[in-house]
Amino acid sequence: MMSMKWKQVVFAAAASLSIFNVQAQKAKTITVNTDKVTAKVNPQMWGVFFEDINMGADGGIYAELIKNRSFEFYKPLMGWTTKGSKMKEGDLLVLNRGASHANNPRFLRVNSTASNRGDLSMSNEGFKGIGVKKGLSYDFSVLYRQTSPQVKLHAELTDSTGRVLGSAVLAPEGSDNQWKSQSVTFTANETVQKARFNLWFEGTGQIDLDMISLFPEDTWKQRKGGLRGDMVQMLADMKPGFIRFPGGCIVEGRELSTRYQWKKTIGPIESRELIVNRWNTEFSHRPAPDYYQTFGLGFFEYFQLSEDIGAEPLPILNCGMACQFNTAELVPLDELEPYIQDALDLVEFANGDINTPWGKVRAEMGHPAPFNLKMMGIGNENWGPQYLERLALFTKAMKDRYPDIKLINSSGTDPEGERFNLLNTSLRKMKADFIDEHYYRAPEWFLKNAARYDSYDRKGSKVFAGEYAAHPVGVTKATSKNNWRAAISEAAFMTGLERNAEVVQMASYAPLFAQVEGWQWAPDMIWVDNLHVYGTPNYYVQKLYSLNKGTDAVSILAGHKIVAGTDSLYASAVIDKKEGVLIVKVVNASAVAVQRQIAIKGGQKAAGSALLTTMQNENLEAVNSFENAIKLSPQEQTIAVKNNNVNINMQPYSLNIIRVALSR
Ligand code: AHR
Repeated sequence: MMSMKWKQVVFAAAASLSIFNVQAQKAKTITVNTDKVTAKVNPQMWGVFFEDINMGADGGIYAELIKNRSFEFYKPLMGWTTKGSKMKEGDLLVLNRGASHANNPRFLRVNSTASNRGDLSMSNEGFKGIGVKKGLSYDFSVLYRQTSPQVKLHAELTDSTGRVLGSAVLAPEGSDNQWKSQSVTFTANETVQKARFNLWFEGTGQIDLDMISLFPEDTWKQRKGGLRGDMVQMLADMKPGFIRFPGGCIVEGRELSTRYQWKKTIGPIESRELIVNRWNTEFSHRPAPDYYQTFGLGFFEYFQLSEDIGAEPLPILNCGMACQFNTAELVPLDELEPYIQDALDLVEFANGDINTPWGKVRAEMGHPAPFNLKMMGIGNENWGPQYLERLALFTKAMKDRYPDIKLINSSGTDPEGERFNLLNTSLRKMKADFIDEHYYRAPEWFLKNAARYDSYDRKGSKVFAGEYAAHPVGVTKATSKNNWRAAISEAAFMTGLERNAEVVQMASYAPLFAQVEGWQWAPDMIWVDNLHVYGTPNYYVQKLYSLNKGTDAVSILAGHKIVAGTDSLYASAVIDKKEGVLIVKVVNASAVAVQRQIAIKGGQKAAGSALLTTMQNENLEAVNSFENAIKLSPQEQTIAVKNNNVNINMQPYSLNIIRVALSR
């Protein structure tokens, strides 16, 4: 998959004769006409794409700190080490219950004769270490089974020298040989980036353990076993219109057996069957043998997250095809029914009355109210006649049963070429609600394609720009790929999405998160380590568009032409009818400052001052970092508006957003 995309990125770069060309400035006035509404802006226009790639979920937003908590990785003690001066053969055993507990077959049997720290213990490395914060409490919990309370569990966090940062003793109370859950909380006395979790045993006896878990208490909304608060906050701050989940290629799986199956991701956490993460083996240069999907962040949590931050849920389901770059396995057409049933059942899970089978499951998980699912994707990056055949069956079943649910259809991996053309033509004939276009391309492609949608059919299927990101060519360091060159080219391109809001009704940058030591794919919108998070310039561009989306796109022209590259300027304008403001976005993609007069026509009176928000840097290679997280971030100032005219001097390589109040 990658090799092909990268070839295209390189080709696009080579084919480009000039990037950010400085050209003579001709038009001095850009005219906005607030009375010429060109499109309604979908309130859900700007959203986010979430996939468990780059340790986005496990080791990322899902705040579990213990790796391989239920011993189900292909090596049962992966992530763990065991030691102790009294440790003998057979003291720590992995038992497998097989088919009787098919979702979580393994557990650990401890035969202890220990009395002191150092006698018998195990230690977990966490996901690239464990981030520990001074003064923060941590919840240690475990499933256990025993016949008498003889063995105590000592849980502790230590730094690299073995110094204890916080600890607690858990004395399991049950004695009926039934699995029980017990937990204890302790507070850390220091901040450490890469701690370890130790568990040592005291007492003589046998105890079985499973789901050995540690969560910080500062999760999003302080939910037990929840999501990393700082990462969710970054999303909430964007006020995204939708969350696309769970991907991405993860939907397809390398093979059908490892496709994403939403029904296996809900219900009690210990019953969610873990599977390998497809990004585990995807790239030989970024091996991630310990990358698994525990589904602690499963479909219920995705819906809940969407609701929490006011975004529409947008689940994408497998269409009966595994990743076509990998195995390309297909489900025979006459065996597709269970896949279609999964899609139908998902609507019931999300929206059904609590007396329906799947609505009841949702209610039992703590959410009797519906999640109001309105749209769903069928297939991720699938293509070819095989996709169309399967899609037709899904569409018939879904539309018969749920005619109001909008369906998102794939246009494959690329925004042009034979595969794209076949799908684009066929899907439009099939009257697809939305066609999902993906483009990972060089920055130059984004500039050249800023007018891509100006010639699209206004009446037919709508476009969902479901995955896109500018990939700078020749940049090797992963975090450096999120440079200003990429972000400003996306900003320029996005003026074209906004200008054509009638056609493009949703858009999401991809991928969303990356762990700085655990990434597979770059660039990414938000980088994290165990303790910190920062938004890239691309993040701030996305956020600015989302926070300034308006309600109606209006005409913006230089002379009689759209502003889509002439003089290296790119522009769009919206009004927000509820707030009574005009919002003009202009990107200056040249190396020199450009002066323009923005003339506001259309009969409304503009206020005497406007808010100008800019992002700017003369160095196209500039990036944000953990050390300088907001180097490239929005800056605000007030500027004068005289007689409905704004004179603006746009800095080299700048995104400029003008917000001005209007009155009749
Ligand atoms: O965003 C990373 C990957 O890019 C997605 O999983 C896939 O849909 C695309 O190829």
